[in-house]
Amino acid sequence: MSAAVGQRYARLEGHDKVTGTARYAVEYPAAGVAYAQLVPATIVRGVITAVDAEAALAVDGVLAVLHHGNAPRLAAGVDAELFRLQEPTVHFRGQAIAVVVAETLEAAREAAGLVRFDYAPQPHHTEFSAQDPGLYQPGHVNPSYPTDVLAGDFDAGFTAAEVRLDLTYRTPAYFNSPLEPHAATAQWQDGRLLVHDSSQGTSPGQEILARLFELPREAVRLVNPHVGGGFGGKLYLKVQTVLAAMAARVVDRPVRLALTRQQTFGPVGYRTPTIQRVRLGADRDGRITAVAHDAISQTSTVTEFAEQTAVYTRNMYAAPNRRTTHRLARLDVPTPFWMRAPGHTPGSFALESALDELALACQVDPVELRLRNDTAIDPESGHPFTSRNLAACLDDGARRFGWADRDPTPRARREGRWLFGTGVAGCCYPARVRPATASATASPDGSYEVRINAADIGTGARTALWQVAADALGAPPERVRIEVGDTALPPADPAGGSTGLASWSWAVVRACERLCDRLAKLRGSVPAGGLSVEVSIDDEVAAQATLPRYAYGAQFAEVRVDGETGEVRVRRQLGVFAVGRVVNPTTLRSQFIGGMTMGLSMALHEAGLFDARYGMWANHDLATYHVSSNADVPAVEAYWVADSDSQLNPLGIKGAGEIGIVGAAAAIANAVHHATGVRVRELPITLDKLLAA
Ligand code: MOS
Repeated sequence: MSAAVGQRYARLEGHDKVTGTARYAVEYPAAGVAYAQLVPATIVRGVITAVDAEAALAVDGVLAVLHHGNAPRLAAGVDAELFRLQEPTVHFRGQAIAVVVAETLEAAREAAGLVRFDYAPQPHHTEFSAQDPGLYQPGHVNPSYPTDVLAGDFDAGFTAAEVRLDLTYRTPAYFNSPLEPHAATAQWQDGRLLVHDSSQGTSPGQEILARLFELPREAVRLVNPHVGGGFGGKLYLKVQTVLAAMAARVVDRPVRLALTRQQTFGPVGYRTPTIQRVRLGADRDGRITAVAHDAISQTSTVTEFAEQTAVYTRNMYAAPNRRTTHRLARLDVPTPFWMRAPGHTPGSFALESALDELALACQVDPVELRLRNDTAIDPESGHPFTSRNLAACLDDGARRFGWADRDPTPRARREGRWLFGTGVAGCCYPARVRPATASATASPDGSYEVRINAADIGTGARTALWQVAADALGAPPERVRIEVGDTALPPADPAGGSTGLASWSWAVVRACERLCDRLAKLRGSVPAGGLSVEVSIDDEVAAQATLPRYAYGAQFAEVRVDGETGEVRVRRQLGVFAVGRVVNPTTLRSQFIGGMTMGLSMALHEAGLFDARYGMWANHDLATYHVSSNADVPAVEAYWVADSDSQLNPLGIKGAGEIGIVGAAAAIANAVHHATGVRVRELPITLDKLLAA
């Protein structure tokens, strides 16, 4: 039988999506549904002293105005981010302080603008700065890495180095901006709560909602068969879900609550800005002898979120003397949150830019420089990597890109007013697995059903799991059904950290294997009522040795820059990746080119422009926060090399959601330097920065 894994398949739900029949969180029909709208705080910090809802309640069709004075109580101590409408305190501008519920969305929106608050404002501190006297060392960085890691003697190694660079890079705040905003439809029936939620994974949310509303876990069901993107912003339960459930209880009707586009810019999370000092000491041949990466990011006063910015530098290249540290500024701002390849995205921009600067300082080709600093041993743990194909990606990429005849001299290629340049960066992302449970059922008619509460946030995970299940069952794919996106299914962790397919496929394989064993004992005869098994991989995952496991890649870019105006156009992006077993080349490629495009957007366009006086970003919608459009995105090519990791999971799947963005912005920044001779160390690369130099 020919294997389904490794073959191209269109997404199973593709037809439903392009014909508009796939439903998203606020599109489910619900009898008597009402509409809710959040009301954001308009001060940065302080206390609400009075609420006047009279004008809002007078709007035709308004059913309720909920605020801290009248909202149902939530259990305290569950999650500070979700503990809304419970107290008069304002921690940041844009915090949800009321919810208006109405017969129509229009009435809810109108009334939301009419709720009046009196405040006692307090002084606020929102400015992100390396000079902040309150910078502190968090206990760990996300998700559970040590804050500082030292090895050898950085200071001595740096002082003794023949070539020394001391460079500071900055990245701004970024917004996830998925097409579907954070959104939920909540309904109560006989004390049970059903929520259609736009979420990257609902198993943790089921638990949190049960605790907040003091319900047994089984009384809460979350459903998310289709999710219109997340990029990290919908990992874990968010405020819209809690407030929709609260509002539905008060009006005793189903309630839909979608954040406005503007409300998704900050209050529910964003990628923290960073300030990163990178020091490299090397010999004249470009071999790194000392590396330090000291990163600063911000968090809020509500909860601590510590971006793992410098973690990238811990494992990527060899060097005997090493130092990576993280410090946080605690500000009166919304709490930062996960965004595609958290930590590794800003961290790789700094380190991979610095390597380009080192290559120039040592007059070593930047691909060759990376090969010289390649290592089979993880510099942090001292263990060999389970598989390391960085060199293969660099070699293959250089060949495909046509790197060999590159003249390294900056500003050497000019045609008319356009300057041309090429750049390269390495990349990696941890390959991890998480616990999961799956079930498999055989029916007498020869069909199978596989069930797991995985989330398909647009990645193609459903389709890939279906392929995995078919092979594990030894069945043609058309005889297999796959069900994901419902807490009524066996539990699994969210789609995050590129762990989804790596973990879910493991549970699916084990469930299918067990089912096949059971069927073999029955000599293949399926009982009339069907035969079902459910298998958890939790013990297998817990027993797995902790080893350094990573996906790798190499990013190449070509740009042209208008020598008079500074306009930058990316001509080509080419990435080669090593991500273990390839399940579906079609959906894999779409993950890579999506990540690379997001990296282009980061290099040239995206930046949250924070106004410290008002405690919010001046650009908080898609009209003013620039994201690369089709016309900005050139030929984006993604390839992969053979890569096998037998120690990771049954199929050797590493996950590919994040790695496409890692290093992508550095490759473009390095290409801009090659074209112009101007090094921009603060993203995005805009014309003013090029012209000023
Ligand atoms: Mo990803 S930022 O872990 O969804």
